[in-house]
Amino acid sequence: MDDRASRAVALGTWQTVLAELDSDGVAWVTLNRPEKRNAMNPRLNEEMGEVLDAIEASSEARVLVLTGAGTSFSAGMDLKEYFRDVDAGGPAARTRSRRDANAWQYRRLRTFPKATIAMVNGWCFGGAFTPLVACDLAIADEAAVFGLSEVNWGIPPGSVVSRALAEVVPFRDALYYIMTGQTFTGRRAAELRLVNEAVPAGQLRARTLELARQLARLSPEVLCAAKTGFKRASTMEWEAAEEYLYAKLDQAVASDPEASRERGMHEFLDAKSFRPGLGTYSRD
Ligand code: COA
Repeated sequence: MDDRASRAVALGTWQTVLAELDSDGVAWVTLNRPEKRNAMNPRLNEEMGEVLDAIEASSEARVLVLTGAGTSFSAGMDLKEYFRDVDAGGPAARTRSRRDANAWQYRRLRTFPKATIAMVNGWCFGGAFTPLVACDLAIADEAAVFGLSEVNWGIPPGSVVSRALAEVVPFRDALYYIMTGQTFTGRRAAELRLVNEAVPAGQLRARTLELARQLARLSPEVLCAAKTGFKRASTMEWEAAEEYLYAKLDQAVASDPEASRERGMHEFLDAKSFRPGLGTYSRD
């Protein structure tokens, strides 16, 4: 954390989110309402749209890490400001509030043009599952506490939380946690494949940074095509997927400012300086 902070620059100023870019090209996005356990209120949902704009526009930002300040990743949607206060504003206010939340929590994040990693540092409840699953990869503190707590306070999982769960968690396990509201740990989240891995709290940032650096060495253009291709093609029939994935591949190669494909082939076939099966081409 200290190492990162000393070399990071702010990407802007927001009331509910911190966003800093480090010298490895990693944009650290921290949901920053620790006194409310980073519950997502309308202000945060609006500001996250601006944060994603800033990261998208930064040519230096190559990987996004999403985490939370204090003891929580996020306690889900804000029961007061997102539910009670918005209810008081009537149907139009509710529609707008839902749109702003979904805009960043899955629509933009799921196919964000740069690689994304969720770093789950603590409480992760309800609506927080949506941005968690929308991130490409996820690493959790093994003691972090997760829960589909909605049934505990009288609603089924809100927004697309159930859809997000169906993407990554087996059927029986998803229904078990949706229907009981029972909590589970980061270690269990890794068993369920809700996150890629769970590590002790003391290693969480170092392991996330290691993974982020690995991704930052690769071409963002190629990674974007790789992840978006996988996510979109997973619901297509084969022939449509074939057309789409070839188009995506050709687009990535044509628009890659780093000309990674040419470099990779040259370094393997001509310079014989690396083996693609065992590592990546040099960026310099
Ligand atoms: N919405 C609104 N406020 C929330 C919140 C949420 N989802 N989660 C926490 N807060 C607020 C609390 O109301 C409290 O505010 P206050 O200090 O003004 O009273 C503050 O954050 C701290 O919460 P507290 O419950 O005292 O913290 P804790 O560390 O003991 O417990 C949680 C943390 C996350 C277990 C607990 O706050 C909780 O159950 N939150 C709701 C989780 C949930 O069901 N989310 C699903 C929403 S879809």
